[in-house]
Amino acid sequence: MAPRWLSIALLAAVLPSCTLATPMGDHLETRASNDDPFSPPYYPAPNGGWRSNWAEAYQKAHSVVSNMTLAEKVNLTTGTGIYMGPCAGQTGSVPRFGIPNLCLHDSPLGVRNTDHNTAFPPGITVGATFDKHLMYERGVGLGEEARGKGVNVLLGPSVGPMGRKPRGGRNWEGFGFDPVLQGIGGAQTIKGMQSTGAIACLKHFIGNEQEMHRMSSVVTQGYSSNIDDRTLHEFYLWPFAEGVRAEVGSVMIAYNDLNKSACSQNSKLINGVLKDELGFQGFVVTDWLAHLGGVSSALAGLDMSMPGDGAIPLFGDSYWGPELSRSILNGTVPVERLNDMASRILAAWFKMGQDQDYPLPNFSSNTEDEKGLLYPGALFSPSGIVNQYVNVQADHDITARAVARDAITLLKNEGDLLPLRRNDSLKIFGTDAGSDPKGLNSCADKGCNRGVLTMGWGSGTSKLPYLITPQEAIANISSMAEFYITDSFPSSVEASSDDIAVVFINSDSGENFITVDGNPGDRTASGLHAWHNGDDLVKAAANRFSQVVVVIHTVGPIILEEWIDLDPVKAVLIAHLPGQEAGYSLTDVLFGAHSPSGHLPYTIPYQESNYPSSVGVLQQPFGQIQDPYTEGIYIDYRHFLKEGIKPRYPFGHGLSYTSFEFSNPSISILTPLNSAYPPSRPSKGPTPSYPTTIPPASEVAWPKNLNRIWRYLYPYLDNPESAAAVANSSKTYPYPDGYSTDPKPPPRAGGAEGGNPALWDIAFSVQVTVTNTGRRPGRAVAQLYVDLPDSLGLDTPSRQLRQFEKTKMLGPGESETLTLDVTRKDVSVWDVVVQDWKAAVAGEGVRVYVGESVLDLRVDCEVGGRCSTL
Ligand code: BGC
Repeated sequence: MAPRWLSIALLAAVLPSCTLATPMGDHLETRASNDDPFSPPYYPAPNGGWRSNWAEAYQKAHSVVSNMTLAEKVNLTTGTGIYMGPCAGQTGSVPRFGIPNLCLHDSPLGVRNTDHNTAFPPGITVGATFDKHLMYERGVGLGEEARGKGVNVLLGPSVGPMGRKPRGGRNWEGFGFDPVLQGIGGAQTIKGMQSTGAIACLKHFIGNEQEMHRMSSVVTQGYSSNIDDRTLHEFYLWPFAEGVRAEVGSVMIAYNDLNKSACSQNSKLINGVLKDELGFQGFVVTDWLAHLGGVSSALAGLDMSMPGDGAIPLFGDSYWGPELSRSILNGTVPVERLNDMASRILAAWFKMGQDQDYPLPNFSSNTEDEKGLLYPGALFSPSGIVNQYVNVQADHDITARAVARDAITLLKNEGDLLPLRRNDSLKIFGTDAGSDPKGLNSCADKGCNRGVLTMGWGSGTSKLPYLITPQEAIANISSMAEFYITDSFPSSVEASSDDIAVVFINSDSGENFITVDGNPGDRTASGLHAWHNGDDLVKAAANRFSQVVVVIHTVGPIILEEWIDLDPVKAVLIAHLPGQEAGYSLTDVLFGAHSPSGHLPYTIPYQESNYPSSVGVLQQPFGQIQDPYTEGIYIDYRHFLKEGIKPRYPFGHGLSYTSFEFSNPSISILTPLNSAYPPSRPSKGPTPSYPTTIPPASEVAWPKNLNRIWRYLYPYLDNPESAAAVANSSKTYPYPDGYSTDPKPPPRAGGAEGGNPALWDIAFSVQVTVTNTGRRPGRAVAQLYVDLPDSLGLDTPSRQLRQFEKTKMLGPGESETLTLDVTRKDVSVWDVVVQDWKAAVAGEGVRVYVGESVLDLRVDCEVGGRCSTL
């Protein structure tokens, strides 16, 4: 891991301090004209603890925080510095109350940079299953492994980026290019993870849609995602609201700016949207080194700085730590704010039961050796046992395999070439079928594309404990397979008319701190095309063989046009990113033990120019990139429908070896929508109260006999009395415009976690019977889309996914009746004037469709009317 952070450190070391170090700046630009993006001030930070489901946790937190010293509270808020422990980051500890250094560590698909873990398939694969149960089960597995390794906060799931930019490097960490798919995927994962006691961390909040220029550097400032209020609510915020509703314990702030105000100190975003409107009760943590200002971020609602370092990592300074202590002593940051930070962090800790026998970290992400430095980032560090090699895998391989298998998406299958038979004569091509010739986990954080592509690269990875390659799995089933693990088509290959060529190709992407084959995270060099001349490999195989199956491992949309219509190309499977179970999950489907049941979590276009011109990856040598979201909510299929562009394969598409019929649809009204706006929100309950007096300066004096580790971040000050003295001087802090300590009236769209609870009243419920009309067992996915009426006064997409359900395994002739619920929010738009969700009264004019993809609709219901099959 070292090279990554060191490179950031070195970069930061040469930065002019004004670029990163804006300790007093709040990044709130004044509006030059009405068209300029602007993030209004929103102060003060709302306190947590007013929700009844968090009451017990807050009570426990209160009894501890009430008795903590200033240093102890600050210690909870600030990381001890990069490389100052086993995890990606760790807070200070409070031994007096049994609170250890909290370990915050990646990743959303498994515990990163350790051993004896499971490498689950990433989010995009999970999304493609359209299976809520598997989403939850994988979350449980992730949580159990985090707990088993002693990770307090597992840094996932990711529901941002949302796939606005098809080339964006980290789309694969999330669940798909649709807010509802992301929202359900994220919420199920959170519930699963937190059921084990691990704290989930929903990220990246918000607008982190491309990798390049996400952070500040010598020549440029992180870009500004300029998102209007409606687009924010109806698209990008949606999955975060679902995650908050699922009681997520923490939220990670994105690197970039939102509307020209850095997310980590954007008061409107954190105080206003997240904590007040969405009623978030947990704590807000920076992305790594995304902390840009001390007082400004505290006032804007940030609760934790990770990994704690200031402008220049590894220099032993922080925007918080001793500086937060100072700002409390001199009265700049209200004591109330610090009490709220500490309460939120501890409430999440108590709520998940981490005060009861939660393991300490037993691994080190810095080394594989048993013994090593305890604080590798320190100038002089003691050593000790750092790796205990605890096996946390349990039987999670079963879930990992089920997810990878049930995600596999069959795009085409002419003449029912699939499934293959054991005695088919197979010729297998492509390095993507094999192993990495340099060895398993041969490159750090998967920063290379060799062998079968199991995940993208970057912090969203974990090591593969083992890998079953497609080659091994196929060889295990078929004695009639010949393997050509090469991306150049071997000219010597003989093809007989019975032969079936199976060609493996892939497309990779990842996080910006690694560049792979010219792609700096985002797919700038490869575009949406297969890597390693994959298109040529397929064409060459199609030239020689009359039956070709193409298997694709990909991070996202990929252009298939060079070969998809060639006559020999009979079958195409997208196997997404399968994690450790790449081989067996594939052969389960390839040889017919399971029918494919995955569906595309994004659209596959004919060409990249089919996307809106505003969604390309932006690059610019100087100055801050402004990224206006001019396409609004018209992302992915919403855009294709609006512009009447035919996709190659639509969102939600996925064939099976069997077929399904949808019958007997009906719609019933559960909660009548008597009014356009939801009933008034519940009022806010009380929050814990604490004395507001400034604590004695002595509370942050260096303790006697402390064995100080050089560069480790502590909360202490050399001369605390002088900090306190400033409180009584005439010096005042230049508070941001609009700063206030008077609480704002509670926003009308709020009222519970996620927003006004009435938004989740089930307005309608659709029932439909799904029957397997084919000859093989299989599982169908019913996808529910709404078309909202013009009477809402806004242009809305003609179809929006709002719900889905997957059948159990249905034998031939077998049926299952599925119920798909539609909430008030599902049929609402965000009213930017009223600042609330506005629904069609009585659902009038709302059309509800159910189908197997956004373009394969089988059922049409009129709310208040009848349903028909299509
Ligand atoms: C990534 C986060 C990750 C963090 C810690 C950052 O670079 O954006 O997603 O959790 O590093 O590794």
